[in-house]
Amino acid sequence: MAIRRVVFILVLLSVAALAAALVYAWHGAIAPINPPAASSFDRASIERGATLALIGDCRTCHTAPGGKTLAGGLAMPTPFGTIYSTNITPDPQTGIGLWSLEAFSRAMREGLDREGRHLYPAFPYDHFSLTTDEDLKALYAFLMSRDPVVAEAPPNELPFPINIRLVLAGWKLLFFHPEPYAPAPARDAAWNRGRYLVEGLAHCGACHTPRNLMGAEIRSEEFAGGEAEGWTAFPLGRHSAARIPWTEAALNQYLRQGWQADHGVALGPMQPVVENLADAPADDVAAMAHYLASLGAPDGISPQATAAPPDASGQRPQSAGWQAAVSAPAAGESEGRLVFAAACASCHDSHRSLPLGGVDLALSTTLAAEAPRNLLNIILLGVPASDGHVAPIMPNFAASMNDAAMTALLGYLRQDVASKPAWPELPDAIAAARRAAAPSTKAGAAR
Ligand code: HEC
Ligand code: HEC
Ligand code: HEC
Repeated sequence: MAIRRVVFILVLLSVAALAAALVYAWHGAIAPINPPAASSFDRASIERGATLALIGDCRTCHTAPGGKTLAGGLAMPTPFGTIYSTNITPDPQTGIGLWSLEAFSRAMREGLDREGRHLYPAFPYDHFSLTTDEDLKALYAFLMSRDPVVAEAPPNELPFPINIRLVLAGWKLLFFHPEPYAPAPARDAAWNRGRYLVEGLAHCGACHTPRNLMGAEIRSEEFAGGEAEGWTAFPLGRHSAARIPWTEAALNQYLRQGWQADHGVALGPMQPVVENLADAPADDVAAMAHYLASLGAPDGISPQATAAPPDASGQRPQSAGWQAAVSAPAAGESEGRLVFAAACASCHDSHRSLPLGGVDLALSTTLAAEAPRNLLNIILLGVPASDGHVAPIMPNFAASMNDAAMTALLGYLRQDVASKPAWPELPDAIAAARRAAAPSTKAGAAR
């Protein structure tokens, strides 16, 4: 009897919880509108929206390889399956042509499409929710004044039950608590602008913050380092593993030019980020650098502890550990050092200038990082030439270097050059990086 009552109460509670979840899960459609004429938006708004779209990387995610700009269809591999970005040009059938400003703003702030369906957080609305009304209006003006493109995104490839969008209501209940940006009155305008952009549109934490098993960012470990497309997004701020602490000026240069003498070059998924920021307003990028620099360097690292200061000509003498490694006596020569001498030293062992001169590897975060993945990616993919401007070039060694040579090389770089304990399980790491770098995998992902 008593047990029956308990069961009854439990059932009642579950029904109530389910009802509450459904109420939370249910959102109505926002009425379609006639696509507004591009001429109905003022120039200033459109131009402002264009710069905000650069900071938000809209084009990077919403353009498929070889596809039309902003027409969607880019495959985004996630630990759960593949999600395709959608068409955000103003085409009424396949894009957002029927979306009012209200519908667009709701998508950016609440992760719901016009019809009220939940959107996957591969679309970083958990950051975009901070965007002000004014900025959303400008972004809307920019998007709605593009040429409409007819393009349907391929269906997502997700397993049950993640393929059911209603499940996202539960995810949001647990992990998504949007609030408008609250300026810190004690800080200056640049700091507040920088924080607004870094936390919001620029969604830096989407890659640089670790995620839990359900794919949500662990906000208490913000910028402790994350993962993106088989690359490590290195820790930032006080978590940084950089050999020379990042200064505001260095961050500003790296974010704008994609390269900085003490830190090297932005590669992998960081490359499109800096390419976009190169065309964004200089003040906004400077504000982001200002904010990031205020997050502090880890204790106990001073610039002099890891590298000698630049000499009068601005050249930084190679670090002591590096020189010892390079001038080690021939008798004790390790295989790794021989591989390095044959394959890498011509560029990384001298002060050759760009585009072929590589950074002093002893300074590179790739050697100091917890995992060898970025170093392996760089060796396997190289640094391809980019057209138009003088940019660093490095050949790839995917075909010319076997696993044994690579293992020896990584051991040498990690232990002798960076003076760090050996990376564990190198053969597994090499195999994983080779699989991801193989052209067949890439063609599959870009489909
Ligand atoms: C990291 C990748 C990424 C970035 C950056 C990104 N998006 Fe998206 N966006 C997506 C994905 C993936 C979807 C589809 C989500 C889904 O199907 O649930 C999406 C969906 C949308 C939608 C909903 C469209 C629809 O038809 O449902 C809008 C609107 C949108 N994005 C606008 C933007 C804007 C504006 C920016 C730049 C400020 C931007 N996105 C940047 C990945 C991204
Ligand atoms: C799409 C994922 C992604 C986004 C978004 C992203 N990053 Fe990165 N970031 C990376 C990856 C991956 C690396 C490592 C690149 C490499 O190995 O060259 C990196 C490297 C960096 C570094 C160099 C760290 C070091 O110690 O060498 C800085 C600084 C940085 N990012 C800042 C930012 C800022 C600021 C933003 C936001 C404006 C941002 N990132 C957005 C993926 C991302
Ligand atoms: C033809 C010249 C050349 C050769 C050979 C070469 N590199 Fe590079 N490498 C570069 C250039 C240029 C860059 C990008 C500029 C920079 O990082 O300063 C680069 C960048 C790198 C980086 C990224 C550094 C950072 O943090 O930005 C790593 C790691 C690296 N190379 C490792 C190697 C290894 C290991 C080899 C040998 C297997 C090698 N390189 C051979 C020219 C070369």
